[in-house]
Amino acid sequence: MSKKMKVLFVCLGNICRSPLAEGILKKKIKALGLDWQIESAGTNGYHNGEAPHQYSQKVATQNDIDISKQRSRQVTKSDFENYNLIYAFAEDVMRDMKHIAGSSFDDNKCKYFLLPSGEPGETDVLDPWYGGEDGFTEVYKVINEGCDKIIETVIK
Ligand code: 4NP
Repeated sequence: MSKKMKVLFVCLGNICRSPLAEGILKKKIKALGLDWQIESAGTNGYHNGEAPHQYSQKVATQNDIDISKQRSRQVTKSDFENYNLIYAFAEDVMRDMKHIAGSSFDDNKCKYFLLPSGEPGETDVLDPWYGGEDGFTEVYKVINEGCDKIIETVIK
């Protein structure tokens, strides 16, 4: 039997983008009848212990996804040993991941969320933290499509 898929989404604060990805991918994977471990974390730790941003929770709820029980946590070196696939939401996030992972960083596991098969292209998912509610609606669509692309990439 193949090893259980363990996915970690990483953004800066783990309150806006990566909690949405965690909620969306969990729903899609459950609907496919698969059993993956899916979690999220942030590089900066500023929001450790906090629930997702109110607008991330709102847009998730509008799409029948409950992310209210998630709590922000900072990514750790051991995450880079424990997870099989780690998706960075931006270039600065990838840079900080490399710093935190140190010798545990593995290019084969760490990909950009927008480029799951390692292809060249745009690396950064818009950070809605700096804007209003519309940004969260917009980023939801991008993350939803990104999760579909991850599924296609992994299950092929
Ligand atoms: P996220 O958004 O990385 O999508 O969770 C942010 C949340 C908080 C901060 C930056 C980005 N911050 O600087 O506190």
